[in-house]
Amino acid sequence: MEMEEKLSALLEAAKAEVSEAETLKEVESLRVKYLGKKGEVTSVLKGMKDLSPEQRPVLGKKANEVRDEITALLSEKRETLEKEALEKQLAEEAIDVTLPGKQVTTGQTHVLTQIMEEIEDLFLGMGYQVIEGTEVETDYYNFERVNLPQNHPARDMQDTFYITSDILLRTHTSPIQARTLEQHDFSNGPLKMISPGKVYRRDTDDATHSHQFHQIEGMVIDENITMADLKGTLELLAKKMFGEEREIRLRPSYFPFTEPSVEVDVSCFKCGGKGCNVCKQTGWIEILGAGMTHPHVLEMSGVDSKKYGGFAFGLGPDRIAMLKYGVDDIRNFYLNDQRFLEQFKRKG
Ligand code: PHE
Repeated sequence: MEMEEKLSALLEAAKAEVSEAETLKEVESLRVKYLGKKGEVTSVLKGMKDLSPEQRPVLGKKANEVRDEITALLSEKRETLEKEALEKQLAEEAIDVTLPGKQVTTGQTHVLTQIMEEIEDLFLGMGYQVIEGTEVETDYYNFERVNLPQNHPARDMQDTFYITSDILLRTHTSPIQARTLEQHDFSNGPLKMISPGKVYRRDTDDATHSHQFHQIEGMVIDENITMADLKGTLELLAKKMFGEEREIRLRPSYFPFTEPSVEVDVSCFKCGGKGCNVCKQTGWIEILGAGMTHPHVLEMSGVDSKKYGGFAFGLGPDRIAMLKYGVDDIRNFYLNDQRFLEQFKRKG
């Protein structure tokens, strides 16, 4: 066959085959078949060496045209196939924008932490330091240094979890009193501190008792501190927690580390003092224990009790939260049930 006719026949065959190709893979093998190193068009070109010098340029031109045309056919087919594949993929992956999105849930600061932070803010504003203690404490600091020697009857009320015979889970935040007193340098000014944290007692858990709960200890020691300072401070606290119109009253009580000791009541925030179910018809709600620091507690920490004195108080954030939000079972705070906790989501 004349070489020129051969080229024309190759072009026709390529056109037919390319138009029938259905995959990119097939297109690629057609490229190899016609234009590859050992391909059909290439082999025709190789045969040119046998032609006469006049025939060569004519055939060379024709071969180039055929090669260009097949190249164009192949790339056109490739584009069409790629476009089809993309359209198919898009159709299959279509996103339904009307479907509901995935819900992302966020947690919130625990209601007890919120109460403690609020109280911390109040006292920080009055120049107190916030001191953290440890939940594992020695018998010595938990009891002896706050005037509860071995065999003191008041120890019975605070039985706890013992780690060894003299290391225990603290029953109150009061050991912080001794720990800060012995560190404090009074030449730098008065001692004013609060200390929030967890405490433990061997209580049978019920609606108002949990073996783990919280306390905030407070203490101010300086020259010339009186009970009026204690009352004024606690009145501010009561107003901050329960509203501006609240009043407090002090009732005599007993704690080994304060003398005199008081129980502090706040006027009922629900009925304003007339009597209701929250205040058990008395108009008053007990919120904390306090008193003037016992001189012996100061002396045991190396503080001169003739020169320095002051007050201490201990309050329970769990009880405050229960009163404030009408929670009737303390154990709710410790179950980590999101349905309960999310009610106390702080705004902003
Ligand atoms: N530590 C006492 C308790 O747990 C509370 C308290 C603290 C009372 C400081 C007076 C002064 O019951």
